Amino acid sequence: MAGTSFASATREIPEVAAVPRHIAVIMDGNGRWARQRFLPRVAGHRRGVESVRSVIRACMERGVGYLTLFAFSSENWRRPPDEVSFLMQLFLRSLQKEVDRLHENGIRFKVIGDVSRFEPTLVDRIAWAESLTRDNTRMTLTVAANYGGRWDILQAMKRMLAKHPERIEDFSEADLAAELALNYGPEPDLFIRTGGEQRISNFLLWQLAYTELYFTDTLWPDFDEAALGAAIESYRSRERRFGRTSEQVREAQGETADPTGRHA
Ligand code: IPE
Ligand code: IPE
Ligand code: MG
Repeated sequence: MAGTSFASATREIPEVAAVPRHIAVIMDGNGRWARQRFLPRVAGHRRGVESVRSVIRACMERGVGYLTLFAFSSENWRRPPDEVSFLMQLFLRSLQKEVDRLHENGIRFKVIGDVSRFEPTLVDRIAWAESLTRDNTRMTLTVAANYGGRWDILQAMKRMLAKHPERIEDFSEADLAAELALNYGPEPDLFIRTGGEQRISNFLLWQLAYTELYFTDTLWPDFDEAALGAAIESYRSRERRFGRTSEQVREAQGETADPTGRHA
């Protein structure tokens, strides 16, 4: 079953690696970046694509296995229609332009979200890009588009109950997790939000349970390789306890909790 090979932070203690295996990003601040330059908001979105490119490259070079980018939330339909349609066009054009390069670099491309609301050309492009790159193994790039964490949990619940109606009384976390849109990768180790806001905005609600959260004021169009490096450094300095005590964590890492060798 998809997803069951990945550790769940609530059911077992995941392995902690120096390089995050999965980084999830809320790319925020495009509009403000543009406004600061007296440009229309969409200029910020256009510029944001360059940051996407450099962050993909940097993650690949650092050996990050999964990169998930929040491109359009289920609530972003509330924006002015012109901006929504610009974002859709930009997504379509970027797909057309970039997918060959992703493929050459061994990147598997995935989209999570309710794409049924998109134009058929965009839906077709997404399906084409996913199928072209499906066997690539170097890195998995997921774009969350018309994605909402609540939508995801709800659709997973519906799928699970349709498959296993008998489990209505006692289904498990694993049953549900296997039906989430992002059931093909580990839970994110590191979450990054640019643009200064400190909120989750309905991103991967289920999977972020034990993710390290990193917020930066840097606006997305200014977020580059060095900024990603700073986020990873911050991640490295964290102690991921998953409910345990600090002493237990150090013991599990094979170190003595107390440098004198005396345990508390
Ligand atoms: C993020 O930048 C891009 C999307 C949500 C599509 P914003 O457009 O939210 O930029 P700000 O937050 O208004 O600066
Ligand atoms: C979150 O950004 C969604 C994306 C980056 C795609 P928003 O800018 O839409 O978030 P809120 O509305 O400020 O929470
Ligand atoms: Mg925003």
